Amino acid sequence: MSVRTLAMMATPHENPEVRRSTVRTLLRLWPFVRPVRARLSGAVAVAVVASCTGLVIPLVLKWMVDGPVARRDPAGVWLGALWLLLLGITEALLFGLRRWLVARPLSRVEADMRAALYRRLQRLPVAFHDRWPSGQLLSRGTADLMLLRMFLAFPLTFLVVNSVTIAAGVVIMLVQDWALGLVVLGPAVPVLVTCAVVERRYALASRRAQDQVGDLTTLVEESVLGIRVVKGFGRHHSQARAFRELAIGLRGTELHKARLLASIWAVIMALPELAIGAALVLGVLRVADGDLSAGTLVAFLSTALALRWPVESIGFLLAMSQEAATATERYFEVMDEAPEDAKDFSDAGDTGGAPGRPAPRAAAERDGLRFEGVAFRHPDVPDGSAPLLDGVDLHIRRGESMALVGATGSGKTTLTALVPRLYEVTGGRITLDGVDITAMSRAELRARVAVAFEEPTLFSASVAENVLMGAGEDADRTDLDRALAVARADFAHQLPEGPDTRVGEQGLSLSGGQRQRLALARAVVGRPEFLVLDDPLSALDVHTEAAVEAALRQVLADTTALIVAHRPSTVLLADRVALLSGGRITAVGTHRELLRTNAEYARLMSGEPTPDEPAPHEPTPHEPLPHEPAPHASEDRR
Ligand SMILES: Nc1ncnc2c1ncn2[C@@H]1O[C@H](COP(=O)(O)OP(=O)(O)OP(=O)(O)O)[C@@H](O)[C@H]1O
Ligand SMILES: [Mg+2]
Repeated sequence: MSVRTLAMMATPHENPEVRRSTVRTLLRLWPFVRPVRARLSGAVAVAVVASCTGLVIPLVLKWMVDGPVARRDPAGVWLGALWLLLLGITEALLFGLRRWLVARPLSRVEADMRAALYRRLQRLPVAFHDRWPSGQLLSRGTADLMLLRMFLAFPLTFLVVNSVTIAAGVVIMLVQDWALGLVVLGPAVPVLVTCAVVERRYALASRRAQDQVGDLTTLVEESVLGIRVVKGFGRHHSQARAFRELAIGLRGTELHKARLLASIWAVIMALPELAIGAALVLGVLRVADGDLSAGTLVAFLSTALALRWPVESIGFLLAMSQEAATATERYFEVMDEAPEDAKDFSDAGDTGGAPGRPAPRAAAERDGLRFEGVAFRHPDVPDGSAPLLDGVDLHIRRGESMALVGATGSGKTTLTALVPRLYEVTGGRITLDGVDITAMSRAELRARVAVAFEEPTLFSASVAENVLMGAGEDADRTDLDRALAVARADFAHQLPEGPDTRVGEQGLSLSGGQRQRLALARAVVGRPEFLVLDDPLSALDVHTEAAVEAALRQVLADTTALIVAHRPSTVLLADRVALLSGGRITAVGTHRELLRTNAEYARLMSGEPTPDEPAPHEPTPHEPLPHEPAPHASEDRR
């Protein structure tokens, strides 16, 4: 959730001119619809029968008018009325049956599609989530899927049903009297042309509307999550204004859609009415002349009237299908993104090694963590700009802990994210004990490497669950207590229900330092071979920091660690320090050596602002400032 996200809001979906085939798009739903195909086609068949039952009514009317009515035979009229009643009841029962048939299977389709989307989102690489605003994903998982269920329940069935009904009705009318039939069919061509034209424009408008819903969702989500900032800076007015603007934009698009629908509706309603009127006049004249029976005219007109609803409804059925096609398109935009390799998650426990590659592990059994000419650029930065990391060479020996220091924005966080393959290197390679990390499954890699991020993310779950996330299934209370002790997160035992206390959404009920210590506990709980810590102690006061350090030293003794550090006190935790500057490692050595020999390092550690950067570390608001000496004061602890 960053400024970048806001800037990106429009990017993933800005291709409104792309022409697509509505039918082909909708056909992509087939794999999800397949399991319920029997019920769905049963429902369509029932609806076709129900609708055609309605068309028999005019034929009964004709029989009544030309027979019993003409003969003034009351018994015959009663019989006819009984038939009409029976037909009406049958039609109603059949439509009820259709509803019953589709309701349950379609909610299953919706649930399946939603589950598939969620699974995919979990498996998509971090680079994807950097690019996509969360509201866009949220709206695809909710509003769009609802549209799809409605489409399968209603327009899909009724487009078929109405087409069959219209075809049957037209045949009946032509058989009754072909001349009158042609008159009524007259408007078909202009109606079809209007539908085709309006449909295309409607597709564009509905795409825009659905994207705008996504943007709106993003805004709401960000301002709810960021409510502290919004309130703290008195931004609720501007936030509300931004919301209003998006909402007005969406309203405009919806009105545009309504206008398009209105125009199609006007044509679809008016032309057939005119045609029916013309047929009525013509028919009456011919009955008067005696070359058409009154019954035939009644049957003809009531058939034409019975077809009015199927014809009129086609306008909004097409509109709903357009929206469904758009929803399908938006759904598959996410589903089509390549996930992290599927095999990576199925072969957990496999010892890795790509096929054909000799197992190099024996040779370099205890090589540690090695970066070899690692280059990286974020996928969404403009082409031509220099890569963020360019030729990083660094070797962290087995059991060694290496601090990583560099100016803010120099790429430290990015470099650490490459180790668990949250991002993929764009050049060079990273090896663990001599094995290229791309040659092992992600599951294995992530079991061996544990990370604590700059922003400690907690989930709405208990403290224990949050911490044990970092361990395998078999971790128990002892592991939990040990990890809490190492991270000096013993405060967890003082919470109302101890480690079983639930933390609120994102752990906001805890202090920044408490969250950071839980994240640290999560990183160490699984006793990982490799530990990657991104500035793990930034929010702690010096006393707590010293205590955590002392405990971490024990953990780090048998772990290979890469620790991003801003403060000398954190640097002192590590055996050696590497300086990241200009996209490469420019110096490696002990803190003392580098202070003496490297001017840039000395400047970073002294807290003096560099020419183009603000001070390297600003204390976060959570820090108890009064106790804290200047950040570099702990330097002399050495
Ligand atoms: N997902 C991303 N897409 C594009 N650019 C990014 C992305 N993430 C980070 N960057 C850019 O990469 C650069 C390095 O970011 P990074 O977070 O690695 O810096 P850092 O060294 O950890 O800084 P700090 O000390 O402030 O934590 C920054 O200029 C940042 O704007
Ligand atoms: Mg960082």
